[in-house]
Amino acid sequence: MSELDPNVHPDAKREVEILAAESELYAPAAEVVSNAYLPDYLALRQSALADITAFWDARATEMIDWYEPYAQVLDDSSKPFYKWFVGGKTNIAHNALDRHIKTWRKNKLALIWEAEDGEQRTFSYFRLWQEVNRFANVLKSMGVKKGDTVTIYMGRVPELSIAMLATAKIGAIHSVVYGGFSEQALASRIEDAQSKVLVTCDGAWLRGKTINLKDIADEAVRRSPVVQSVIVYQRTKQTVRMEQGRDYWWHELMALPIASSKCTSEVMDAEDPLFILYTSGTTGRPKGVLHTCGGYQVHIATTLQYVFDLKDDDRWWCAADQGWITGHSYIVYSPLILGATSFMYEGSPDFPYPNRWWSLVEKYGITILYTAPTAIRGLMRYGEAWANRHDLSSLRLLGTVGEPINPEAWRWYHRVIGKERCPIMDTWWQTETGGFMITPTPVVPLKPGSATLPFAGIDADVVREDGTPCDANEDGYLVIRQPWPGMARTIWGDPERYVQQYWSDFAKQGWYFTGDSARKDQDGYFWIIGRMDDVIKVSGYRLGTAEVESALVSHKDVAEAACIGVPDELRGNVIHAFCILNNGVNGSDSLADALKQHVRTEIGPIAVPAKINFVDSLPKTRSGKIMRRLLKAQVLGQPIGDTSTLAD
Ligand code: PRX
Repeated sequence: MSELDPNVHPDAKREVEILAAESELYAPAAEVVSNAYLPDYLALRQSALADITAFWDARATEMIDWYEPYAQVLDDSSKPFYKWFVGGKTNIAHNALDRHIKTWRKNKLALIWEAEDGEQRTFSYFRLWQEVNRFANVLKSMGVKKGDTVTIYMGRVPELSIAMLATAKIGAIHSVVYGGFSEQALASRIEDAQSKVLVTCDGAWLRGKTINLKDIADEAVRRSPVVQSVIVYQRTKQTVRMEQGRDYWWHELMALPIASSKCTSEVMDAEDPLFILYTSGTTGRPKGVLHTCGGYQVHIATTLQYVFDLKDDDRWWCAADQGWITGHSYIVYSPLILGATSFMYEGSPDFPYPNRWWSLVEKYGITILYTAPTAIRGLMRYGEAWANRHDLSSLRLLGTVGEPINPEAWRWYHRVIGKERCPIMDTWWQTETGGFMITPTPVVPLKPGSATLPFAGIDADVVREDGTPCDANEDGYLVIRQPWPGMARTIWGDPERYVQQYWSDFAKQGWYFTGDSARKDQDGYFWIIGRMDDVIKVSGYRLGTAEVESALVSHKDVAEAACIGVPDELRGNVIHAFCILNNGVNGSDSLADALKQHVRTEIGPIAVPAKINFVDSLPKTRSGKIMRRLLKAQVLGQPIGDTSTLAD
């Protein structure tokens, strides 16, 4: 656990902003409260905390269908390996699709998709259900069985959701790798999950250009030969190499008689694996966070319903990528479980012009928009005239996720996009938590930059290293004291690492440590400060310093490397790297460029350091651990604090 050093505040600017925004309260309009799904949410929240199992038990019957009921809500006999809804049988594809086909929702729009070039496709629940069934049968015909893993590496197309739902339908486990990752990142994730089947695209569109996903996939499969079959969805129609006997076109398989539109959902135990999603941790090795079939559904459906107040006539736009947890939980699964209509856009927010998003809100009558602070800051930069050209009156709620939102961006989002009518749901959560954990609902008074209060049934707190609660406005460790249904169950293939990573810092108390620091103000509102471990959030993307460092040292000229996150106006943080070069190699601008390119091909564009410094030594503890804190203090021009553990 890293120490809280008051001399080196991770982000001094945020400290000042928090203090200013703490007393700025935005109460919900009477109309918002009376229309809310739960007008008396705050009272319910109190009673939920008094008995969390009773709260989640009620949600499990209310939100989803079970083939067979569970015998026990929570089994805590082998902590921290909690089990939820023990003995219950279900399938997420049943709740997301099968059950709606038998109701009027059969003909309701499940998904509206717009491509970067303006092409449009829509899927009713019936059509989506058929497509999922057909692809599920394709997967079966390729030998995929219950418990097998399928790796999915695609751009932002509906077929990515279809592939996920089809995998879940037949009881297999999906591992979606974000389409912005490169060869090595994909290869190591395929290898770790031991996937025999890979689903990919020929290419993806980004800012009018194509990205050669299939080429990257080919290289990854070469490095990780466990893959036996590759299914390729044709998106860009660029020329790709198809290896006979290994590679198959999606559309050709879907045209075969085996791709029947009938497929029964596999009966899954509540605790059977649903998916693996790799995320960054404190070591360079990818960490496969495992979520299971029962509790995850209950958590994501409840949180989406309560927080974003979904109604049948809403048009929900979660502007993330399906490849991250936000996309898994709130693009693909929970909107479908709730029977909602979702909108999805393929490209980037400012392409071809900075008004693209606002034109989409107007064109599709989006009612709820959920995005990341970095996107808001990016669009804010172009000035409000771009937004003001559009009728945004359909919007009724806004949301953010992924990193702390600075009050300035919050106020802009509230005023320019929400016209001071739309409450902003600032949702704090993690890949590991499965769904929202600290968040308002529409009836909770807001403070710009605060995720407000723990969700009903979530027992979060800010504590000192010894577990005692922090005073108001004292920075501390953000912990979760009681289990919740959407919690990750383990790290794929490495249960010890799961215990070590999340449950060892407060082992005595049995609490989950989030890796974040936070503070509560005098009203009990939570303010997230940032990561305390070696994880950096860049534009909301989560990167481990160790991942970037190992990519750097894999270059022939680099002997040692250390990376830190440095606060950045636009991207939240950027990475600065410090490299010791091999004997005889001299640092130069062209070498810095070559190293950046190297990180780009090893991990992906999101991991490229903003700055590379060549140094002769790195500050280390006597036991040899790099003291990144000192590098950071130096870059920020802050006092370097306690150096008693420094070796040299
Ligand atoms: O540091 C917190 C930050 O994102 C981390 C989790 O990252 P990831 O697993 O990629 O999941 C992101 C999407 C759920 C957290 O440990 N974070 C997430 N949401 C917020 C946030 N920080 C401040 N405010 C938020 N609303």
